[in-house]
Amino acid sequence: MSFESALSIKFKLNNGIVAPAIALALAELFFEGVVKREDLFITTKVWPSMWNNPPRSVDESLKRLGLDYVDLVLQHFPLTFKADDNGNSLMDDDGQPIFDDGDYLITWKKLIELYKNGDKTDVVPLVNQVELHPSLPQVELVNFGKSKGIITEAYSRLGSGGAPLLKLPIIQTMTEKYGVSGADILINYHVKSGRLIVPRSLNVERVTNGYKSVDFSAEDLKTLDQEGIDHPKRYMSLRFAKVLTLNTGARRFLSIRIG
Ligand SMILES: NC(=O)c1ccc[n+]([C@@H]2O[C@H](COP(=O)([O-])OP(=O)(O)OC[C@H]3O[C@@H](n4cnc5c(N)ncnc54)[C@H](OP(=O)(O)O)[C@@H]3O)[C@@H](O)[C@H]2O)c1
Repeated sequence: MSFESALSIKFKLNNGIVAPAIALALAELFFEGVVKREDLFITTKVWPSMWNNPPRSVDESLKRLGLDYVDLVLQHFPLTFKADDNGNSLMDDDGQPIFDDGDYLITWKKLIELYKNGDKTDVVPLVNQVELHPSLPQVELVNFGKSKGIITEAYSRLGSGGAPLLKLPIIQTMTEKYGVSGADILINYHVKSGRLIVPRSLNVERVTNGYKSVDFSAEDLKTLDQEGIDHPKRYMSLRFAKVLTLNTGARRFLSIRIG
């Protein structure tokens, strides 16, 4: 499915894709009046190879997207990679990024400087985007976020490529109980718990149809959490999951915080 058709159907969120085709598509859609900039929510991320220069990373994203602002800036994994002069990751012989000894907290501190023009350091992150689903409920992290007013945003809510979580017996049981699809169950698991999700689908029919609301009981939400407490499984590479993810938000996100 093209980026253009996704935008003209239901997706109004771009989670940090900065391919030149996206900039072209956006420019065309704005020009033709299909969508307005202010109706989109666009995220960009500081890649670990630019860990030491987040302002440059944000500028690069804006340039590549052809935009003058984004709605949310995330630190993309609390990791640091070695980089060439252009900020691209240096790779080892296996094609894997080479780690840098730098401290990833420097990225966070520099993002705070960017956010506050360098005059204050008391910024609490607005969003923490992590892998989260019934096989990895991250209950402690979610509760910690709640206690600090940090919104948790879930990625890989279906278990990533091929949507493996749809095959979990507990999801199939809930599917029968509520008369909806497995994807509906996995999305409502977050929405009904007050979390954001990053959806992904290349299938026009799925994007067009959207998702049904599920009126979960508190007990069923607990049962879904319990699945991952008893049988935890992470789908994203462990190489990237060594340390706690810490993300930050951009100024404009303040206006649409959820309660
Ligand atoms: N911050 C980070 O480090 C990080 C890491 C990973 C991902 N993310 C973000 O999170 C987004 C989503 O996560 P993800 O890509 O890992 O995977 P995901 O959303 O868990 O799953 C996507 C897969 O599910 C399928 N799918 C989508 N809707 C479906 C439905 N209704 N029924 C059945 N299958 C369905 C898709 O296939 P079809 O395309 O055929 O529909 C695709 O194979 C990514 O695009 C990315 O923006 C962020």
